[in-house]
Amino acid sequence: MQFIPIVALTGFFLVGVFSYLTYAGDARAGRQKITTCQACHGLDGLSKNPESPNLAGQVESYLARSLEAYRSGERKNDAMNIVAKDLTDEDIADVAAYYASIQVDVLPP
Ligand code: HEC
Repeated sequence: MQFIPIVALTGFFLVGVFSYLTYAGDARAGRQKITTCQACHGLDGLSKNPESPNLAGQVESYLARSLEAYRSGERKNDAMNIVAKDLTDEDIADVAAYYASIQVDVLPP
């Protein structure tokens, strides 16, 4: 009766791989991970510094791709290359989900 444990283990493995591949960022977790980002980008994603862009309401995949590019050095900016260096894939997904989840209302002038 080796069969059942093997099926169960394969099932757990596949669930693990699937959830890894489809890991969608967790905005709540992301909010806890932006301690260093707030100084420049704000807790609300609205820049507190004329050099830094607003991130609130930005497209999630764009935020994640930008952070990956800073982390790899493909996109160059002194501050962001240092900040992104230690972010894990999960951190990037969470932080991107958090900033993307902030509602921005645009009022035409
Ligand atoms: C010292 C200030 C500073 C800190 C701290 C900082 N940033 Fe930035 N961030 C910047 C600046 C300046 C830019 C614009 C860089 C450029 O021109 O590429 C930027 C750009 C970005 C962009 C790209 C935005 C776009 O519109 O392309 C993202 C995403 C981002 N930061 C996320 C973060 C996250 C997440 C953190 C924290 C882990 C963080 N930043 C911490 C200053 C900062």
